[in-house]
Amino acid sequence: MPTLNGGYYHDVSAVLITTPMQQTQHFLVKMRGMTPATPHRRIVLGITGGIAAYKAAELARLLIKQGVEVQVAMTDAATHFITPATLQALTGQPVLLDQWQDDKGMSHIHSSRIADAIVIAPATADFIAKLAHGLADDLLSTLCLARDCPLLVAPAMNKQMWSNAATQRNVRQLAADGVTLLGPVSGVQACGEEGMGRMLEAEALAQDILTALSVASSDELAGMRLLITAGPTYEAIDAVRGITNRSSGKMGYAVAQAALEMGAQVTLVSGPVSLTPPAGARVVDVTSAAEMFAAVQQAVPSSDMFIGVAAVADYRVAQPSEQKIKKSDTSLNLQLVPTPDILGWVASQPKAPFCVGFAAESEKLREHATAKRKKKNIPLLAANLAQDAIGADDNELVLFDDAGEHVLPRTDKSTLARALLRHAAMLYKKGNQT
Ligand code: CTP
Repeated sequence: MPTLNGGYYHDVSAVLITTPMQQTQHFLVKMRGMTPATPHRRIVLGITGGIAAYKAAELARLLIKQGVEVQVAMTDAATHFITPATLQALTGQPVLLDQWQDDKGMSHIHSSRIADAIVIAPATADFIAKLAHGLADDLLSTLCLARDCPLLVAPAMNKQMWSNAATQRNVRQLAADGVTLLGPVSGVQACGEEGMGRMLEAEALAQDILTALSVASSDELAGMRLLITAGPTYEAIDAVRGITNRSSGKMGYAVAQAALEMGAQVTLVSGPVSLTPPAGARVVDVTSAAEMFAAVQQAVPSSDMFIGVAAVADYRVAQPSEQKIKKSDTSLNLQLVPTPDILGWVASQPKAPFCVGFAAESEKLREHATAKRKKKNIPLLAANLAQDAIGADDNELVLFDDAGEHVLPRTDKSTLARALLRHAAMLYKKGNQT
């Protein structure tokens, strides 16, 4: 059975469904060119009939460049948008088109059996509906139903089709079935309208797929030292009152827990929360932004990665009163002064660790997140809508990096934390290689 952690070239004779002569030639070339014991990743790239199909060619090229073997399967509709010849030339493999072409009659089983994942990009509303209902009336849908490996789906459609109740129901069903949704994002659409439904760009998709293909290794952060801030800070106004943020600390604690599970050493600098810290983490309890800053400054030199999940108060009272301020009939003016930007400081250090920021926005998520990543000069920023996230056990994150956006669909915070860390680890390792 294929695993995500390293397949080997085996049973390749069952993959193709073109002419027997082409199959023989292809496998001879392949078997000569490959060392059978070389670990590699293999995906089936399913293309369905939408205008975004043209991006699948670039996606295939990027994945192949990263050493992934790509077997393309197309629906009939997809061939109206991009030709199989293009994909065949790029992948070096005949394209799977028709379930009735297969002389062995079992390509739908074999192709998915030897794949580490099936990726549908673009996935039309129609194809998503088929997946949600388990239909298998063409080769690609049959491959998906007969698979024994993860399924990743990159929706692409017009905004009305995406927001239609039926599509939303189908997408929720896919998520509940364990299918990974990559995107969509909001942007200008082929029809000229602007809105949600646009497929992720090829580069962002390729990164998400590579992250998924290296999933499940429990030692992905082995030997790494992570410094994580979590929870809110509390800035005193007087002896009993203060300024704080609505943060439960759940996301930061989930990131710390996931990092430990992935083999990292973790220092968790935590604001006031009512959570039990993960066993194995070195925990530094703080209250104010100034205390958090001091704890981070101390730990930064021995950290490889800094993840600022804390909702740090941006202002503190210039002169907090030691005694409780008594009520009066006149208005009360408090002078507020900015707190230190902890993440900004870490990122500006000459030997800065790899920095990951969080952004909780109440509107214009993409615009604010992109600007924030730039301003703080950090390689990776995870953004969410504050109203969806605060105190909840699940969340949806959008990751912003040099390649673009990567949507981590709504799920529990532990699963999100692992996906975020895998992505960060991949960028960290990539950065260290160059
Ligand atoms: N952050 C920090 N120190 C601060 C403020 C924020 O380290 N004083 C970190 C947070 O932990 C988070 C990121 O910066 O990783 C973004 O925080 P946010 O408050 O959303 O950004 P700001 O720069 O404060 O922008 P604004 O509040 O205007 O949205």
